[in-house]
Amino acid sequence: MVMMSELPLGPLPDVPEATSDPEALIAFEGRIARGERIEPGDWMPADYRRQLTRLIQQHANSELMGALPEGMWIPFAPSFKRKLALIAKVQDEVGHALYLYRAAETLGKPRTQMIEELLNGTSKYSNVFNYPAETWGDIAMIGWLIDGAAVVNQTIMATGSYGPYARALKRITYEEAFHLKQGYDVTVALATGTQLQRDMAQEAFNRWWWPTMMFFGPPDKQSVHTGILHRWGVKPKSNDEQRQEFLRKFVPKMIELGFDIPDKDLRKDPQTGDWIITQPDWDEFKRVINGDGPMNKERLALRRLIYDESSWLRTALDRHVPLPAAA
Ligand code: COA
Repeated sequence: MVMMSELPLGPLPDVPEATSDPEALIAFEGRIARGERIEPGDWMPADYRRQLTRLIQQHANSELMGALPEGMWIPFAPSFKRKLALIAKVQDEVGHALYLYRAAETLGKPRTQMIEELLNGTSKYSNVFNYPAETWGDIAMIGWLIDGAAVVNQTIMATGSYGPYARALKRITYEEAFHLKQGYDVTVALATGTQLQRDMAQEAFNRWWWPTMMFFGPPDKQSVHTGILHRWGVKPKSNDEQRQEFLRKFVPKMIELGFDIPDKDLRKDPQTGDWIITQPDWDEFKRVINGDGPMNKERLALRRLIYDESSWLRTALDRHVPLPAAA
């Protein structure tokens, strides 16, 4: 992979600072090209701040919403061991949301505003958390496929240029590695179990394959943000590169476990070794990420209920008057 510091950044990007403060922008881009981390108090283009706020806020939203489908399965886990692992995983996901909202706050956006924008639908979260989790097979696929995709994506994004986001992702990827092991363990148990268990895993796999392909975002040629995010070191690899990295790591394992892959035209390019997929239904993707997925309304209503029912705690903390220093 070509290192960011070797990339000629070319003519200044079409952002307001390119005219109002070209010197500062040239200095900023020089820092990016040298692979330096940008910190909250540093000068940064308004567009960098806006993009990072959008990206980190949406990521935090995804973690918070992602806790719901798995959280609902905690009471129904098939064993105490599976229940304990799921409780730990769901608790981690909410913790990831807190790290990420905190990272986004360093760019100047209050957490209460970010949560409100999630609840009123004006800030997105990952497409994958708008699909139902109907059987224990879904818990296998969320833990294996979705957390597997998240590990690929977040490991790449953790080498990005914004310090607080990169550091939050460093810790998150450690914990996601456990989530992936948990998901793979559940998947192997089903895929090597009884016919009923194998059928359950395959049925869930069929429903999760396409949302997982969409997880990494639209094809590069349709991505509106990748160009500037790559230029400024925020997105070191493109959506298609990230998707391909996932396919190279996971398709051999899917075949090894005996899964029928729903994409009948999936094939490996003999020259490059890349997996060629059928393009997902990007119209479905657009509908789902804009609030019209199978579970959007139900999950946002649940998140709103939890937020409203815990308002007393926020009030108590806000009114908390520190105890007088011991006399
Ligand atoms: N779910 C929901 N929305 C998505 C998405 C997904 N899987 N992939 C892309 N989008 C949205 C983008 O937010 C953008 O919409 P917006 O302008 O209203 O914000 C639009 O689709 C165009 O996509 P793109 O230009 O590729 O956006 P991007 O540069 O933000 O890249 C991701 C998309 C998901 C790859 C990127 O957002 C990312 O890596 N985010 C950080 C990590 C993260 O959130 N991971 C998911 C953890 S569960």
